[in-house]
Amino acid sequence: MNIFRTILCALFIVAVSASITDKLLQIPLFEVGEIWVTAVTKVHARLWNYVISLLDVTSLYFYIFLGVFGILGFFGKKLLFDPLDRVRLLGDIGYQADGKWGMKEIANSVRRRRLVGEIPPVYPNGWFGLTESFRIKKGESKNICVLGLNLAVFRDDKGEAHVLDAYCPHMGANLSVGGRVVGDCLECPFHGWRFRGDDGKCIYIPYTDKIPDMAKVKSWPSMEINGWIYLWHHAEGIDPNWTPPELEEITNGNWTYRGRTEHILNCHIEEVPENGADVVHLRQVHEPCIAAGIDLSKMWNILWSFSHHAWSASWEPNAAPEEHIGNLKLTHSMKFFGRSLVPLDLNVFARQIGPGIVYLEFSSLFGKGVFIQSLTPLEPMVQRLVHNIYVSWTCPTFVAKFLMLGEAIQVERDVMIWNNKKYVGKPLFVKSKEDSLISRHRRWYSQFYSENSPTLKFQKETMDW
Ligand code: FES
Ligand SMILES: [Fe+2]
Repeated sequence: MNIFRTILCALFIVAVSASITDKLLQIPLFEVGEIWVTAVTKVHARLWNYVISLLDVTSLYFYIFLGVFGILGFFGKKLLFDPLDRVRLLGDIGYQADGKWGMKEIANSVRRRRLVGEIPPVYPNGWFGLTESFRIKKGESKNICVLGLNLAVFRDDKGEAHVLDAYCPHMGANLSVGGRVVGDCLECPFHGWRFRGDDGKCIYIPYTDKIPDMAKVKSWPSMEINGWIYLWHHAEGIDPNWTPPELEEITNGNWTYRGRTEHILNCHIEEVPENGADVVHLRQVHEPCIAAGIDLSKMWNILWSFSHHAWSASWEPNAAPEEHIGNLKLTHSMKFFGRSLVPLDLNVFARQIGPGIVYLEFSSLFGKGVFIQSLTPLEPMVQRLVHNIYVSWTCPTFVAKFLMLGEAIQVERDVMIWNNKKYVGKPLFVKSKEDSLISRHRRWYSQFYSENSPTLKFQKETMDW
């Protein structure tokens, strides 16, 4: 179609110029073609000379050209082809600076002064993302502290990931800080005891053959899927009764990784998934155009009123035996002067799988893909929220990055709410289907707490936090 249009356009230009030259300049029609050919040859020769002069290594222009080309190439590649990596730590965003204090000071002061509210237990039961798979290579170990645990995560020489308690039972050294991976074991950096990844048992002590039965560390249930190493945490010590489903398009490589975002939040974990059932906030927080930024008080600027995001959403939990899954159907369209910009339309089907994992599968004009969301408590009121994006080959990297950036900006608006609010145990709900949906979500999420789930009070009494 494009070629057809180009030929038509060229014929039109030739016809117009031929008739002008014939009528105005009195040039016979048969000479018009010759004039065109001469003109094109001249332009071509000039351009060629220019390119040749740029390649003259004795000329200053060559080095200027090289510099500009190198810088453009570097940033162009970064922008168009490299995966996105956007990290916002506590105090980077989500607070309002007052001109006197920097963002970090304000963050600390809000954390100290805020009312926590009547919060549910701080560490729910379920699978939680420990780290993205690519962060731990074969033979490497990493110290990870989440859910009140201090863990040694390592990948053995066959590539299998293991999760052990970090402290050595001998004299308490941290196995993952300085420890070596030997075969399928992690070796303590202090006196060389080796602990098996599968069950945490000590199978080697360099200076004795008598290995006591007590010589072992706790080995935690873990699994690796969809680019994440997950940990099973249950306050009653119950073994996993469900697992995060595999996304085949990721395993078979049909969808490829195009980037990540990471946000550290200061709130109770339940605030984040509760957003999925809070349809009213979509309008209030997420409607203004993303170009208007992440400060909730400034994003209503009239400058950006020509464009907005339109959302519709519905949330529904699954029936048994998949009661740990909640489904959110979301449609997004970008409006300019009230009209939709179709390439940015998104249909999202989000599955909340347990308390800390969400798959947001989307389809757009550019193809299909998924955001994998992982929400893990680092402390009772500090959460790490990571999104990874995978897309089909039809979606260019820069489009995937744009989608991810848009999603990140919307999340960062939520961060300003989460970081400053208190949790209200008994909210002042009005009689409406909107507020009753949030109630329903709270009842659904309460399945992830149990009798011995740690509470903030408990944490304070033991001085763990
Ligand atoms: S402290 Fe680990 S071997 Fe001694
Ligand atoms: Fe939100």
